[in-house]
Amino acid sequence: MLARFEEVVDADEKIEPRDWMPADYRRALVRQMSQHAHSEVVGMQPEGNWLTRAPSLARKSILLAKVQDEAGHGLYLYSAVETLGVDRESLFRALHEGRQKYLSFINYPTPTWADVGALAWLTDGAAIVNQVPLCRSSYGPYARAMVRVCKEESFHHRQGFDALWALTRGSAAQRRMAQEAVDRWWGPALAMFGPPHAQSTHSERSMRWRIKRHTNDELRQRFVDVCVPQAEALGVTLPDPALRWNAERGHHDFTPPDFEELRRVVAGDGPCNRQRVAHRRRAHEDGAWVREAAAAYAAKHREEARW
Ligand code: 3HC
Repeated sequence: MLARFEEVVDADEKIEPRDWMPADYRRALVRQMSQHAHSEVVGMQPEGNWLTRAPSLARKSILLAKVQDEAGHGLYLYSAVETLGVDRESLFRALHEGRQKYLSFINYPTPTWADVGALAWLTDGAAIVNQVPLCRSSYGPYARAMVRVCKEESFHHRQGFDALWALTRGSAAQRRMAQEAVDRWWGPALAMFGPPHAQSTHSERSMRWRIKRHTNDELRQRFVDVCVPQAEALGVTLPDPALRWNAERGHHDFTPPDFEELRRVVAGDGPCNRQRVAHRRRAHEDGAWVREAAAAYAAKHREEARW
């Protein structure tokens, strides 16, 4: 069975829910996919915070659509985790009790409207760089969920770029606000890709099983290379004096993010960790009646279908 599993993975075909898989492969998928799902859902908060204060009706509708998309991404991903035999309630419990993680950048605040633009331009841009290769992940339901997520993520990235574009073409105060937001989000966006390869616990095995396709450092480098011309077009400066083109490598040199800060934020000590989890828990409790009503409605229809 193991030989057949390895043959499928090596041939770049998909493992499907009913196929035999090693217990560690299943565990690795549950860990990464549930962390991914939680990131989408808790990730609604930094921007959701600006829904009632968006500067125009158009910006408000765009942001509302974007935040709703994140909820949808969470749902595709929770469904994909359920194909591995894990029920959704237990995933929520693990998140609320701090036994499962979500991505570090979500624990940073969005003090100005420009932060909404910078967050989407940089962190959704980073999410695209990270997720496009996941469309070729070896686990079928994860790879297929990623195809749609990536399409929507491109719209999210563009709307962030567009919000910053408007500010960088505005007054001196607006241009300053945009630059300060980019200064705040550059580090968290670089850190999203995780620890350097030498310190990454899971990369080697996840890459062997083709759950993930590239090292954290390769993706971080790709992200920097993509961002530089976009920053030039926007007219903002990326806050790294060491950032320059290295013709020999064919890539930009840059200062790595503060990995000690990443470790602290992942351990629960970022600026907004407690607030994010408390809000998520409250939203889950407040939504209990909706889940009960939906379950009762589904049960009634199942009953009627039997008649
Ligand atoms: N934030 C929080 N934890 C992180 C992290 C980060 N940025 N980077 C790494 N970690 C954690 C890992 O989960 C692991 O902890 P664990 O063993 O307790 O699970 C540990 O640090 C060691 O890291 P590894 O490099 O060994 O972990 P991985 O091989 O899993 O790589 C990853 C980390 C690159 C984040 C990978 O899991 C991945 O590609 N995940 C899927 C991408 C994802 O989650 N995207 C969410 C996007 S959110 C979004 O788009 C919403 C937004 O738009 C609002």
